[in-house]
Amino acid sequence: MSVGTATIIDGKGLSQRLLTEVAARVRACEEQGVKPCLAVVLVGEDPASQIYVRSKERRAAECGIATRDHRLPATTTTSELLSLVRLLNEDDEVDGILVQLPLPPGIDSDAVLVAIDPRKDVDGFHPDNLGLLMLGRPRFVACTPQGCMRLLADAGVELRGKRALVVGRSTIVGKPMAQLLLQADATVTIAHSRTVDLPGLVADAEVLVAAIGRANFIRGEWVRPGAAVIDVGMNRLETGKLAGDVEFAAAIERASAITPVPGGVGPMTIACLLSNCVDAAARRAGLA
Ligand code: GUN
Repeated sequence: MSVGTATIIDGKGLSQRLLTEVAARVRACEEQGVKPCLAVVLVGEDPASQIYVRSKERRAAECGIATRDHRLPATTTTSELLSLVRLLNEDDEVDGILVQLPLPPGIDSDAVLVAIDPRKDVDGFHPDNLGLLMLGRPRFVACTPQGCMRLLADAGVELRGKRALVVGRSTIVGKPMAQLLLQADATVTIAHSRTVDLPGLVADAEVLVAAIGRANFIRGEWVRPGAAVIDVGMNRLETGKLAGDVEFAAAIERASAITPVPGGVGPMTIACLLSNCVDAAARRAGLA
């Protein structure tokens, strides 16, 4: 797909191809007597989280992955949640454990994430998995950055020696994204809310990954002509429409390739989650 000079990177199409592969691997596990299973834990009533969790469960079912749905009230304590995580850790039929973030304010998220068995941590948020990524020996790679890397590879974007800018330094997206780009031999800069001269850094970036969480924050005119642009933002406008972190209509005039919102990174995050889950199940089935 092409508009002006930019290729629109089709995350929906690539995610469907990945999900087809996941479904085939699920069948191979089943032939070994293993039914891949993802436990999904949602605490509280956050409407966006409810939508994300529903999409994850629906896509899992489409691939043949069983789900165990655990919905807990916002009043759940850290120790109650830790008890559930321990039960799921010990359940031999559960391959992956997903605790949807953000957790309600009273819960110690770090304690919960560190309690998840790192071999079932299909989100890749456990310190062991983040450490392995840092060492270049990844086990589970966080789903959104993994999806961004797959999009860049599929679009044929060369990373070696390129100047890559990651805008955002979260543990879920920005930091693992920067590691992955570094391992692909890009020269990586991480920008954040205290960065001085963001427009100048964007203008220099041959590869731009925006993970800020503010609609249209990166102006199209800042984008370097010919840059590859990956937009992780999913911002709900007052009109109800979704917008990315990058001003799409203007950026598309300058970029060589760009992800749309919706239909770019979002579907890849879910597909990578299910890919991680079938990796775990394949290990249980003796296939990996
Ligand atoms: N909240 C926002 N993104 C994610 C994600 O990838 N995994 C989980 N568990 N929670 C999230």
